[in-house]
This record gives sequence, C-alpha cells and structure tokens, in this order.
Amino acid sequence: MGRYDGKTVFVAGASSGINLAIAREFGLEGARVSIVSRSAEKIASAAADLRAEGVDVVGYDCDVRDHARLEEVFAEAHKRFGPIDVLVSGAAGNFLAPAFKMSANAFKTVVDIDLLGTFNVFHASFEHLRKPGAALIAITAGQAVHPMAFQVHACAAKAGVNMVVKCLALEWGPAGIRVNGISPGPIADTEGMIRLAADPEAEARLKNKLALRDYGTKDDVAKAALYLASEDAHYVTGTILNVDGGNDLGDASANCLP
Ligand code: NAP
Ligand code: COA
Repeated sequence: MGRYDGKTVFVAGASSGINLAIAREFGLEGARVSIVSRSAEKIASAAADLRAEGVDVVGYDCDVRDHARLEEVFAEAHKRFGPIDVLVSGAAGNFLAPAFKMSANAFKTVVDIDLLGTFNVFHASFEHLRKPGAALIAITAGQAVHPMAFQVHACAAKAGVNMVVKCLALEWGPAGIRVNGISPGPIADTEGMIRLAADPEAEARLKNKLALRDYGTKDDVAKAALYLASEDAHYVTGTILNVDGGNDLGDASANCLP
C-alpha cells in the first residue's frame, strides 16, 4: 500500500533532475502522475523510465511559458486521472552571466520560465484542482533571498516565485488549497549544479561552506515534497521549506568543532 494510492499528481519541468525524482517518488507511493516539459522526446523518455518502474504516468510536451498549452494539458490530465491532489511547479533555467553582458532577452527568458512559468502553472490549474484538499508546491532556490553574482536573472525570478507562493497561499487558502515552496540547496548530480559549480575545486569550496558539509540528494527534495503534500502538513501553508544542508544560514566554513 502506497501513501499516495488513488491520488493524482502533476509535476511541471519533470523530464530530468529534481522534479523527475519528485514525480518518481509520488509514483512509487501509488499516485497517478502527469509530467510535462518542453521537449516531447525528453518527457516521453522520462515517462517510459517511470513506467518501467511501475508508475502510472503520462507525459506531455508543454512549455510553461505557454498558458494556452497548459490549459489544454491540464484539461487532458484531468480527464484521464481526475482532479489534481498535488501540483509541483519546478521548471527553471539558469546560467552564469555577468549582468552587464547579459542581454535583456537572456534576463527575460529566465524570468519567463521560472516566475511567469510558475504563475502560469498554478493559474491554469485552478479549475482542475481538488477543492478542498489540493497541495501546491513551487520549487524555488536560495537565490530568492540571497543575492548572487552572475545570477541577477535567477535571483529576481526566484524571489518572485516565493511571493507567488505566499500570495496564492493567502488567496486560495479559503478554498482549501495549500501553497508552499521548497528551496533546495546544492543537489548532487543535477543540471543546476553542473551549471553553477562545474569543476571539483568549486564543488569542494561550496561543500566546505555548508553547515552539513555535503550536497543533498534528489531524494532529499522528493521526500520533503511528500511531506508538504501530505495530511501531516495540513496546517502548513505559505511557507518555504529549506532542504539545503544549512545553505540559508550562510558561510559555515569557519565553524570547526573540536
Ligand atoms: P533540470 O534537470 O534542468 O530540470 C529543469 C526541468 O525544467 C527540465 O525537466 C526541463 O526539461 C524543464 N524545463 C525547462 N524549461 C522549461 C519550460 N520553459 N517549460 C517546461 N519545462 C521546462 O534542473 P535541476 O537542477 O534538477 O533543477 C530543478 C529545479 O530545482 C529548478 O526549479 C531549480 O531552480 C531548482 N533548484 C535546483 C538546485 C540544484 O542544486 N540543482 C538547487 C536549488 C534549486 P526540458 O528541457 O525538456 O524542457
Ligand atoms: N550566457 C548568457 N546569455 C545566455 C546564455 C549564457 N550562458 N544562455 C542563453 N543566453 C541568452 C541567449 O543568448 C538569448 O539571448 P539573445 O536572444 O539576446 O541572444 C537568451 O538567453 C535566450 O536563449 P535561448 O537559448 O533562446 O533560450 P531557451 O528558451 O531556448 O533556453 C535557457 C532557456 C537559456 C535558460 C537554457 O539554458 C535552458 O533551456 N535551460 C534549462 C535547463 C537548466 O537551466 N537547468 C538548470 C535549472 S536551475
């Protein structure tokens, strides 16, 4: 018996990495899962991998910047699996670029995927959510609260994502919908960390700054999503849960206990 038997879960940006791990974890716990991403090929391959593990899953190609396509996909997913119990919005893009060299379109692209995309996913889902009872989760990042050089686009976008979480938690709470965020720290074996700390020296420096001195795993984030979506979290809304090894606490490299 799975903890999510009979539940329906929808994960946006789930062809790889953390979001795919979240979709997998819910699926292995018995949920019927819909996953979307831009690339038809990548999402079909991710869905096939999950199916091979026994997950009842359907994949749709859908760019979260395209509200009309999201409306179509939510309608199809609803028809197939019923109202959505758990909705995870995690599509994102990032790259390191100095602000003065970044084009306006580069800034806009990341804001459109991360921030507008999160709004679009939540907004287009509204009529397809189980009410009362749906749990919405945005995947945000430490960039939302800690300014970082060469990431003005991602910092601005994720700061906005945190506000979308809090505003919708306020507005949609009376309909019985909870809205929360998860802020992962550096997570091993992900595209995000390949882009932000590509070489072993950068990785070692970063790990040494973390209170827990190591990267997290995709499963660490997936397990937090399982908690936030569960009955155990029925009084939790509008919060951002850090799953970050202490990253939010600041540089812990000088802290060496005897
Ligand atoms: P990832 O594997 O690249 O995941 C990003 C996903 O978003 C991919 O499945 C990608 O698939 C999809 N995507 C990108 N643009 C899209 C669009 N316009 N419409 C729909 N789907 C889109 O990266 P990750 O490192 O696992 O990151 C996942 C999430 O965790 C992100 O929200 C990221 O900000 C957050 N996060 C990651 C870390 C980390 O350590 N990795 C730390 C903090 C926060 P397609 O290419 O097929 O579209
Ligand atoms: N440095 C500076 N500018 C960059 C860049 C980089 N590394 N990569 C892309 N850009 C610019 C492009 O030059 C373009 O601007 P321009 O029109 O002024 O030349 C703009 O960003 C859009 O690029 P494009 O490739 O058309 O966007 P896209 O929508 O196809 O892809 C990205 C989105 C750029 C975010 C791409 O990196 C991506 O698909 N990322 C998803 C995976 C990911 O980032 N995972 C980690 C999640 S944290």
